[in-house]
Amino acid sequence: MPEYDALIAAASKVRENAHAKFSNFKVGAALRTASGKIFTGCNIENATYGLTVCAERTAIFKAISEGERRFDAIAVVTDTDTLTPPCGACRQIIWEFCGDVPVILANLKGKTETLRMSQLFPKPFDSSNL
Ligand code: THU
Repeated sequence: MPEYDALIAAASKVRENAHAKFSNFKVGAALRTASGKIFTGCNIENATYGLTVCAERTAIFKAISEGERRFDAIAVVTDTDTLTPPCGACRQIIWEFCGDVPVILANLKGKTETLRMSQLFPKPFDSSNL
């Protein structure tokens, strides 16, 4: 979908910055604000493994930290034939900050698939449960 071309391009580019020396699995994410601004993030691994931060969360935390609060799409790019969906932790965070946005999965060969968060995360725990 041409609407997401810039988002996919931004995620592909930031993927090159991934610090993925343990898994060698580089991921790029790009988040679009309601006003059309794009925030990017890559995965940042750690020798303790558990402190690794995924690309999606890097992008979201960068945007939140810059004062952004309204988002309308997020793209995730890897160099795999099977497209990479966000992990469980990222689904929780995407839901919390972005709600039912489209998640555009893409690879470097131009394959894409778009799923809504409500498909990826159908029965979330969120502030409505508190
Ligand atoms: N990873 C992401 O950054 N996003 C995903 O959607 C899936 C997994 C990262 C975490 C880790 O650095 C590497 O990919 C392998 O799990």
